[in-house]
Amino acid sequence: NQNAMWGGRFAAGPDAIMEAINASIGFDKRLFAQDIAGSRAHAAMLAATGILSDKDVEAIREGLLTVLSEIETGKLAFSTALEDIHMNVEARLKEVIGEPAGRLHTARSRNDQVATDFRLWVRDQADAAIEGLTALQKALLAQAEARADWVMPGFTHLQTAQPVTWGHHMMAYVEMFGRDVTRFRDARARMNECPLGAAALAGTSFPIDRHMTAAALGFDRPMANSLDAVSDRDFALEFLATASITAMHLSRFAEELVIWSSAQFRFVALSDRFSTGSSIMPQKKNPDAAELIRAKIGRIMGANVALMMVMKGLPLAYSKDMQEDKEQVFDAADNLMLALAAMEGMVRDMTANRANLERAAASGFSTATDLADWLVRALGLPFRDAHHVTGSLVALAEKQGCDLPDLSLADMRSAHAGITEEVYTVLGVHNSVASRQSYGGTAPDQVRAQIARWKEALA
Ligand code: ARG
Repeated sequence: NQNAMWGGRFAAGPDAIMEAINASIGFDKRLFAQDIAGSRAHAAMLAATGILSDKDVEAIREGLLTVLSEIETGKLAFSTALEDIHMNVEARLKEVIGEPAGRLHTARSRNDQVATDFRLWVRDQADAAIEGLTALQKALLAQAEARADWVMPGFTHLQTAQPVTWGHHMMAYVEMFGRDVTRFRDARARMNECPLGAAALAGTSFPIDRHMTAAALGFDRPMANSLDAVSDRDFALEFLATASITAMHLSRFAEELVIWSSAQFRFVALSDRFSTGSSIMPQKKNPDAAELIRAKIGRIMGANVALMMVMKGLPLAYSKDMQEDKEQVFDAADNLMLALAAMEGMVRDMTANRANLERAAASGFSTATDLADWLVRALGLPFRDAHHVTGSLVALAEKQGCDLPDLSLADMRSAHAGITEEVYTVLGVHNSVASRQSYGGTAPDQVRAQIARWKEALA
């Protein structure tokens, strides 16, 4: 029972424990389509360069399509003894077409094979992430457009800071997720070089055409150094790092949705479709999707750290440690896509409560900065003095248990004799947001300009 692929120098088969720790088919079967695409490209190149006969290669490429459809329809039972997806596919090919199957591995190693398969898989995931992010951006854009000028409190330290607009807040996330898209694009561009033909590590003595296989698999070019090609997993790490940043953004927004949907805030109502109930408390409608999205950063960033630890300290070229790359990336990618889709659904469905947003926007002395700015503009006070005068008025209002606009003009003048009736015009939340006309500011005009720019970009 020696391994048919490498058992020549072995007298005995592996211990069951050896087989258990060694086999990766349980998870790397997910690479079957990439593996077969890589093999078909390799075989076509072997024919074009005259390394194999056209007849053999025709049999190989036909046979690979048979194996592909067998896997797709669940007809092929994978074997742990055959370790991984690469040897499972090749072994089945041998059963289907016989002798020519043994020629497929000419000028190739599992080292460049797996590096190629995995790059193809991660490349697809970068595309999927970009798609998911774009869909989420569109959902946020729709939210922003529908309620661009609704006022809400803007926070720092989660304490009332200044009024902002709902559209402004939604568009802040459109910007963040937009940068995430560019990070995935950058990562994709860097990873889009083909390791195939690096063979085990040193290249091959066969007259292969690496440019041909690279082009056939949609890569921009072959990787320039065969040792590097089979050794590095930086493309997977870059995907995970980029995914971690996206997950961090998702987590922050998820946290806001948890807070906003609480009975104490009631800024938004999440739809029934994206909430759950409690088995004991009949009144409950819990934001579980938001909570789970908030948590996903844990495993995604965890995968990034785990793979970084696997890779650090590995001498060139391939080491079996690197087989540990896949589960981390699979899990992180699955959870990222799920989180993006769930967030998109939640955002599309959620309704904002205008009255609660506006009431909250006006509370907490949110227009104190507008008062200070008015003192500078109307009375020519240095900003530091204006800040101090306004602070004393906030303290006075606090003592009287009222808001700034409720203070009498006499009270106002007790803090600074120059204050006039005009001051009341700047204390409303709508005036406040409308005055923030600086580029990128919260004024509805500025927000609508942001929305227009993104609508065009996402069209
Ligand atoms: N299953 C292996 C992996 O994922 C394939 C490469 C094996 N190469 C080797 N020389 N044993 O890394």
